Amino acid sequence: MSKLSAIILAAGRGTRMKSPLPKVLHPVAGRPIITYLIQALQGLEVSSIHAVVGYGEKLLRQTLEPLGIQCVHQNEQKGTGHAVMQVPLAPLEDTVMICNGDHPLVRAHHLKPLLEEFRLQQLDLAVVSAKVPRPGSMGRIVRDGGRLRAIVEAKDASASALKIGEINTGFYLVKKTVLSQFLPKMKANNAQGEYYLTDLVEMAVSSGLKVDALPAGAEVAFGVNEQKELALATKSVYRQKAYELMESGVVIVDPENVYIDPTSEIGPATVVYPGVVLQGQCQVGSFCVLEPHCFLSHSVVADSSQIRAGSYLEEAKVASQSVIGPYARLRPQTEVGSECKVGNFVEIKKSKLDRGVKVSHLAYVGDAEVGENTNLGCGIITVNYSADKKKHKTKIGKDVFVGSDCQLVAPVSIGDGALVAAGSTVTKDVAAGDLAIGRSRQENKPGYAARFKGSQ
Ligand code: UD1
Ligand code: CA
Repeated sequence: MSKLSAIILAAGRGTRMKSPLPKVLHPVAGRPIITYLIQALQGLEVSSIHAVVGYGEKLLRQTLEPLGIQCVHQNEQKGTGHAVMQVPLAPLEDTVMICNGDHPLVRAHHLKPLLEEFRLQQLDLAVVSAKVPRPGSMGRIVRDGGRLRAIVEAKDASASALKIGEINTGFYLVKKTVLSQFLPKMKANNAQGEYYLTDLVEMAVSSGLKVDALPAGAEVAFGVNEQKELALATKSVYRQKAYELMESGVVIVDPENVYIDPTSEIGPATVVYPGVVLQGQCQVGSFCVLEPHCFLSHSVVADSSQIRAGSYLEEAKVASQSVIGPYARLRPQTEVGSECKVGNFVEIKKSKLDRGVKVSHLAYVGDAEVGENTNLGCGIITVNYSADKKKHKTKIGKDVFVGSDCQLVAPVSIGDGALVAAGSTVTKDVAAGDLAIGRSRQENKPGYAARFKGSQ
C-alpha cells in the first residue's frame, strides 16, 4: 500500500475573521483550529505533514514546528494552487492529502474511509465533496451526466451553477504525479486572479485521468471563515465532549452549557451543573459534584469531592471527600487532602493541607503546610510576603486550633495540638501543645459608655 503525505494550506490571514491573529490559530475549545486537523492527519499515520504558511508565519511556526510539522513559506497569497506549488514534491509519498487549514471538526475517522475509497478505486485525484443546505461561498461540484467535470468557485459561477448544493470541502487526495504534471500548467484566469487548486480537477479530467468526488459529512465540510463559525465550532466540540461524558455515565444537567475541553476527564456518577469550565488536562473522579460556574484549569479532583458554586481551581489537587467553596480559590501547587473543608472566600496558594483540615471562611493560606485535622478559623492569614520581597513558609502541625482573625507571620511554625487564641498576631514559633496569645489585653471601664455617648 502506498504511503501518505499531507499538505495543510494555512498561509491566509482570514480577512473575514476581522482579527489580527492568523485564522488557523484562533482557538476552538482552547486549542488552535489547525491542531485539530493535525491530530486527524496523525490518526491516518501520515509520514509527513507540510504546512504552507505566510501571514503570521512566526506565530504559526511556533505552534507547528514543535508538533513535527514542516513549514513552507508562501510569500504572497496568490491562491490555493499557488500555495501547493511552494511545497517541494520530491520528499513526499506517492499519495498526498491536501487540506484547508481552517476545518476544525474533521477527525481521523472521517478521513480514513475516504483514503480507503481512493485506494480501492485507484483514483488519480479525488476531491472530497459534501451536500450542504447553504453552499454560500464554497466551490461548486459540476457534474456531466453524473460524472465529475470541474469545480467552479462561487465568485466565478453562473447563476445556475450557484444553485448546485454539492460543494468542495477543501480536502483532496491526489497522486504526486498529478501534482508534478499539472501544477506548472496552472493559470490564474479567474475573478480573483488567483491560482486555484480546484482547477486541477478540470485539467485531470480532460487528460483522461481517474478523477472522482468522494462524499463526506458536515464535519468535513465545516470551515471557519468568520467569528460566528468559530463559536459554532467551539459549541460543537463542547457538545460532543458532553455527549461522550454522558455516554460514560457522567450526569450533565445541561449539556449545552458546560465547557469541558476534550483533554479533560470526569468519572461516572459525577454531577456537572451549568456554567462549569474544565480547561486543559483536568481529572475529576466519580461521585463528585461540580456546582454552577466552577472554573477548573489543569486540576485534579478525586472521588466524592464537591466543588461548590463559583470556585476557581488552577493547577490544584483535591483528594477525595473534600468540599471546596462556594467561591473558593485554589491557586497553583495547592494540594488539599481528603475530607477537608475549604469554605467561602478562602484563597490557598502553594500549600499542602493534610486530611481533615478545615479552613471554612474568609482566609488566605499561602506557602503553608497544615497537618491533619487542624482547624484554621475565620479570617486567618498566613503572612508569607515580607518587606524584603521574599516569600516565607508557615508550618502548622496536626490537631492545631487557630482561632479567628489570626495573622501567622512567616517564617513561623506551630506545633501539634497547639492553640492560638483568636485575634493573635503570631510572630514566634509555638511549641506542640502550647497556647499562644498575641494580642493587646482588653480593658473594661465601668460606666464609660454612657459618658462617652453623652459627650457627643
Ligand atoms: C476554498 C476552495 C473552495 C472550497 C473551500 C472550502 C479554492 C480555489 N477554493 O475556497 O472550492 O469550497 O475552500 O473551504 O481552493 N490559502 C493559502 N494560500 C493562499 C490562499 C489560501 O495558504 O494563497 C489557504 C488559506 O489559509 C485557507 C485555505 O487555503 O486555510 C483555503 O483558503 P480560502 O481563501 O479560505 O479558500 P475558500 O475561498 O474558502
Ligand atoms: Ca475557507
